[in-house]
Amino acid sequence: MIHALYVQFIKPVFFLFDAETIHDSVTSFGELLGKFSITRFLTAYFFFYKNKTALRQEIAGVVFPNPIGLAAGFDYEGKLIQILPYVGFGFHTIGSVTYGSYEGNAKPRLGRLPKSKSLLVNKGLKSTGAKKIIRKLKGMPIEIPLGISIAKTNSEKTNTDKTGVEDYIKTAELFDRSGLGTYYEINISCPNAFGGEPFTTPKKLERLLVQLDKLSLKKPVFIKMPIELTDHEADELLKVIVKHNVVGVIFGNLAKDRTNPALNKDELTKIGKGNFSGKPTWKQSNRLIAFTYKKYHKKLVVVGCGGVFSADDAYHKIKLGASLVQIITGMVFEGPQLIGEINRGLVKLLEKDGYQNISEAVGTLNK
Ligand SMILES: Cc1cc2nc3c(=O)[nH]c(=O)nc-3n(C[C@H](O)[C@H](O)[C@H](O)COP(=O)(O)O)c2cc1C
Repeated sequence: MIHALYVQFIKPVFFLFDAETIHDSVTSFGELLGKFSITRFLTAYFFFYKNKTALRQEIAGVVFPNPIGLAAGFDYEGKLIQILPYVGFGFHTIGSVTYGSYEGNAKPRLGRLPKSKSLLVNKGLKSTGAKKIIRKLKGMPIEIPLGISIAKTNSEKTNTDKTGVEDYIKTAELFDRSGLGTYYEINISCPNAFGGEPFTTPKKLERLLVQLDKLSLKKPVFIKMPIELTDHEADELLKVIVKHNVVGVIFGNLAKDRTNPALNKDELTKIGKGNFSGKPTWKQSNRLIAFTYKKYHKKLVVVGCGGVFSADDAYHKIKLGASLVQIITGMVFEGPQLIGEINRGLVKLLEKDGYQNISEAVGTLNK
């Protein structure tokens, strides 16, 4: 019923207005809902779903109550920390957070492609800066694992290897000292920032990870990977990653290629600069999950991200090798009840396949 309400009434109204204005209003509303026990209770009444036996997993020492998390890029400043557990999420990444602040690229920088089931993103690592976010998070109760996505400040000043690495390190140090966050996501793959994706060659990634190792971070580290890699290119990066203090990889970030067959040609002619989420990321994400699981599952946890719109989609990524699944675009198109629906659907799919817990299904298509 909530799905019909969202898709037939709420979404058409939302889609009449500028995408970023709606996104900002929704996150501010979510922040308000999270402040009071009555609104948290009501949110849970409509959205929350739990099944500890089937969905709970412990990964890298962190307990995830279910495998569905909010990906980086929806909650830049941690406004939704108090409400997302009641929506039914199993974990939540905030950011990307950068050391310096940046107001973001020129507007409009967020668009919708309904026929392609995609969002156009050209935010350019908008961030209020790590220090401000740490001040905001201090003392906040954390109910589900909270990831901090760390990216390089979008500025000419951080554009050399040396200054770029230093910038990541300063943010990681600040968070590590603050004790905030349950895990870190190092975002090496933001495609719409100054200088492109600077740490996506093996040599440069090695430089970054050597310095990160030196921090001996107290929380597990994941790497948010680019999505348009061949298996060979991914392998070259993964060979570097497994030598360092990294527990897992997330496949992946936004798609850049405008010849992507999942993009509707009419929609493409009408939109401006930016990169694509949602269905245009689905196939590549799945291929890279499968490749990484087959070759590295003993060394790396794989997190699937890109184009999940249903329980079947999430289950497919899990069977390919993802232990956890992240989502943004599916929720924007289908509504916030999607998280509970996916978790409920996963329990049914697990039962059908005779599994007691989600961890038994991970990678079954690639064993
Ligand atoms: C509006 C928007 C902003 C994003 N910003 C970030 C970001 O700051 N850092 C990051 O690692 N990924 C960012 N992403 C990428 C998402 O985390 C995710 O990788 C991508 O959207 C694919 O997942 P989806 O199809 O479920 O949306 C952003 C995505 C969207 C839609």
